[in-house]
Amino acid sequence: MTGILSPDIKKLIEKNSRELSEIEGNLLGTSHDGQIRVFFITSCNASEGKTVTAISLAYALSQNARRKVLLIDGNLHTPRLHEIFSIEAGPGLTDLCCGKVRDVERDTELQDLYVITHGSPVENTADLFRSEDFKTALDNLKKNFDYVIVDGCPVIGSSDALVSAKYFDGIILVVECEKTTWEIAETVQNKLKISGGNIIGAVLNKRKYYIPRFLYGKI
Ligand SMILES: Nc1ncnc2c1ncn2[C@@H]1O[C@H](COP(=O)(O)OP(=O)(O)OP(=O)(O)O)[C@@H](O)[C@H]1O
Ligand SMILES: [Mg+2]
Repeated sequence: MTGILSPDIKKLIEKNSRELSEIEGNLLGTSHDGQIRVFFITSCNASEGKTVTAISLAYALSQNARRKVLLIDGNLHTPRLHEIFSIEAGPGLTDLCCGKVRDVERDTELQDLYVITHGSPVENTADLFRSEDFKTALDNLKKNFDYVIVDGCPVIGSSDALVSAKYFDGIILVVECEKTTWEIAETVQNKLKISGGNIIGAVLNKRKYYIPRFLYGKI
């Protein structure tokens, strides 16, 4: 079953294409000779735009930069990739980590973009994310793709993000403008760092006001 990206998300990606190409350039530049290739997308709270950001980055790296990209639904509390790509929910990440199945990557209508859904329900999500099985799964997947992007859950409200933070090459923190304060963003950033996470950048999402580039230096 081939995944088909929802038209709403495609429109959003097109709308934000200018910002996206900057982020894409930064990510390619941050790669340090291919060392930073597994990204984790997280945020402080729910609904700040992690899934949209993860898909947008996967889209930019596969369609614009022509890299082979794997997008994983790593939000076991509110998974959405299967809906957005109109594919069945399983088998997916949890089944792969439990060793139940091997080939869980699905292809999509977009060349070089593959998706792994969240998979069957597990009793304790944090146990799965802190396990060696999860790390091993990521290491194996990394061998077959240029980039692996994990759409995660927020840091506040679940320990999934913190217990797995050290397993990713780079973490991107999505911050919804006008919703999350800098104090909270800073606290979350410190928590991720203490947990061994390598934060490589932040995405300021849902900006209402656009500051023209020529004004940057003047304010
Ligand atoms: N840049 C954007 N512009 C407009 N709408 C956006 C943008 N980013 C996200 N949204 C919308 O905000 C809502 C939440 O986005 P998304 O599902 O990506 O958040 P999330 O952080 O993944 O949520 P969750 O914590 O449940 O996983 C969605 O309806 C999405 O379409
Ligand atoms: Mg999400």
